Amino acid sequence: MSQLQRVKISALGTYVPPRLLTNADLEKMVETTNEWIMERVGIRERHLVDKGVGASDLAVAAVKNLLESHPFDLQEVDLIVVGTVTPDMMYPSTACLVQHKLGIKNTWGFDVSAGCSGFLYALNTGVKFVESGQYRKVLVIGSDVNSSMTDFTDRAVCIIFGDGAGAVLLEPAEDQDGGVIDHVAQIEGMGGQYLYMPGGGSLNPATHETVDQKMHYIHQDGKNVFKYAVKKMSEMTERILAKNNLTGKDVDCFISHQANRRIITATADRLGMPLEKVIINIERYGNTTAGTIPIAMQTALEEGRLKKGDLLLIAAVGAGFTSGATLLRWAY
Ligand code: UT7
Repeated sequence: MSQLQRVKISALGTYVPPRLLTNADLEKMVETTNEWIMERVGIRERHLVDKGVGASDLAVAAVKNLLESHPFDLQEVDLIVVGTVTPDMMYPSTACLVQHKLGIKNTWGFDVSAGCSGFLYALNTGVKFVESGQYRKVLVIGSDVNSSMTDFTDRAVCIIFGDGAGAVLLEPAEDQDGGVIDHVAQIEGMGGQYLYMPGGGSLNPATHETVDQKMHYIHQDGKNVFKYAVKKMSEMTERILAKNNLTGKDVDCFISHQANRRIITATADRLGMPLEKVIINIERYGNTTAGTIPIAMQTALEEGRLKKGDLLLIAAVGAGFTSGATLLRWAY
């Protein structure tokens, strides 16, 4: 096999809609308290879209934000991969909508459905196309409008989720020491029963009945998802580190999916990683599904906790169940 091209993330952009839903707002909507949410989950506020805004709009805004810090000709984009479970509609794909809205003429693209692992799966897919030498510029986007499928009377669900998006640009790495090193991933479909949206697909197409039965909302067995997430997040991070003869001590920055502060700290604990190396921004954004990892990357950069040359470990667990981890050296 010919030598694979090393791939780097060369730019990042994010977007969250301006409207805030705070714990104080939620206290007026369901039986909950700021103290319970902060203690059990670690969220203070989340951003929600206004009516008429879809996942493709957040994705486009994230790409425009990326262009501000890293201007380049979008016509050079060879491929757009979008991780989302809240596409604007069943079809066309969000990638097609994003391509059209950005006016990119000669490109290819598709969506990846992997729940909260959506960005990670899209990233690993995009990497393969640059690694093989087939493409030179790939846009990888994670975008979710969770408020579109949230039952705002279900207190165990509506407190967790927010809306948001992030985008990265993948390019060949000139510096052989930088870029993506490895990834691991696994799906376990037995988890489908614990986190799913039953309505609106081919099995239960929309009817008055499906709406009355709240089938177009997130159905979550929080306890089982929590237990699996803690176990699997540790397993995937330990697996990728061992595969590369590394330990938690070698990692400079750890970014995991942001679903519950306690899941993140439990994983860091098992890896023996001090909290200074762990990026947690769930307090400000909640769980934005495919948006969390790039938004947390932005937080890490803004806080000066992710720098060129740093060994970055990324991990996610999501609906499916899906899980994965990626190891890379930050390249800019
Ligand atoms: O990205 C993947 C997506 N999802 C996740 O990763 C979610 C993982 N799960 C979790 O984060 C947690 O399981 C939840 C935050 C969903 C729930 O927290 P918990 O500590 O596991 O609570 P629980 O389900 O064990 O419920 C304990 C109690 C229950 O009351 P009773 O039956 O003991 O009287 C719940 O009804 O807490 C109650 N409860 C609440 N109380 C106040 C559930 N939600 C709330 C709430 N405010 N918002």
